[in-house]
Amino acid sequence: MLNKFGLWKKPANSSTLRDKIEEIKESPIPEHVAIIMDGNGRWAKKRALPRIAGHHEGMKVVRKTTMLANKLGIKSLTLYAFSTENWKRPKNEVEYIMKLPEEFLGTFLPELIENNVQVKMMGYKDQLPSHTLHAIERAVEETKNNTGLVLNFALNYGSRAEILDAVKQIIKDNKNGILKETELNEEVFSSYLMSSDFSDPDLLIRTSGEIRLSNFMLWQLAYSEFWFTDVLWPDFNEEYFLEAIEAYQKRQRRFGGILS
Ligand code: FPP
Repeated sequence: MLNKFGLWKKPANSSTLRDKIEEIKESPIPEHVAIIMDGNGRWAKKRALPRIAGHHEGMKVVRKTTMLANKLGIKSLTLYAFSTENWKRPKNEVEYIMKLPEEFLGTFLPELIENNVQVKMMGYKDQLPSHTLHAIERAVEETKNNTGLVLNFALNYGSRAEILDAVKQIIKDNKNGILKETELNEEVFSSYLMSSDFSDPDLLIRTSGEIRLSNFMLWQLAYSEFWFTDVLWPDFNEEYFLEAIEAYQKRQRRFGGILS
């Protein structure tokens, strides 16, 4: 295995990984982890492969990350798979990404069910190809009673549009007498967002060395801990994920207050 500097790195054997997981589980685990999975294109380019090869490799990392999150006892894992701005990409790339949920769920849904994982999606469903939406809706339906990790795909998701839509709905509800101005607070506002079923992410991970939010969960990430890595998403393995969780466990979250 090559590390991010291209140097040989001894892979962690499964017992080392198991020990590490147990050690990490002794400290508080983030309830909700959100990930901006970035760098698939660059990963492919480095290997003179088409960009879609990077997305395919990235899909495999989704599986491993999901399984580890479940083992760690993380309650929700939100993965930014496609933004409302990603439609600007070449047609063949968009079409390929839209096929990935079918391939992923077609292959791994039995494993997700076996591991008690619940699948959810947040994003604008109307513009998704019907084959993409059907694959996701089927997985949502088949896993709805599962009680383990919630695997939440942010697909055709954009935070500014989500916030604007929430504001429009609040105005309507206010006009119709459903919501009084005095009743509107941060908690009520959150309930109008697509993430209303989830607590705010405790930890945000972004791969590939880009240090920005790219229109992802702008409201929800207000007090999240951020962890950035230069590692490209297809190279993001269990060790890096554990490194991010460990870094989170060392942070002191103050939520604007002071430590007592
Ligand atoms: C960003 O990397 C990645 C995406 C826009 C797609 C992410 C999709 C996956 C990881 C697979 C998702 C799997 C399922 C099951 C939905 P980039 O293409 O922007 O990389 P670059 O910045 O290096 O070009």
